[in-house]
Amino acid sequence: MEKTLVLIKPDAVRKKLIGKIISKYEENNLSIIKLKMETITEEFASIHYSEHIGKGFYNNLLSFITSGPLCALVLQGEDAVEKVREINGKTDPELAKEGTIRRLYAENKTENCVHASDSLESAKREIELWFGK
Ligand code: CMP
Repeated sequence: MEKTLVLIKPDAVRKKLIGKIISKYEENNLSIIKLKMETITEEFASIHYSEHIGKGFYNNLLSFITSGPLCALVLQGEDAVEKVREINGKTDPELAKEGTIRRLYAENKTENCVHASDSLESAKREIELWFGK
């Protein structure tokens, strides 16, 4: 069974969407095996988002992700990495399919409610970064 890291981002926490978002994962037979609330520092955010350093949206992304508490969780289940990406929908909420979290709740490409690991390799790296070995 696979594991993947999800962040319920500060916009979704401010909009009190944690419960609705977690329900989507549980309804799809994914189990929460770790969970915590945290407001992260710029330094930590720059490690998590290191692959985006230098991109045009990077500074906005960093100030947004550090703007308030977020909820980090590890989900486990069959095909968890791909399944969670399907449930979340595309980065741009306007392109995300009906019924996905981003289509339902996200404002734009930055304030897009959720992050999920994009591969098994990223999941391993991100789970270790957020929750240790
Ligand atoms: P996330 O899954 O957290 O991973 C990287 C984030 O960068 C992504 O979600 C978006 O919030 C953000 N992002 C990616 N592409 C763009 C873009 N073109 N404009 C603004 N933000 C972006």
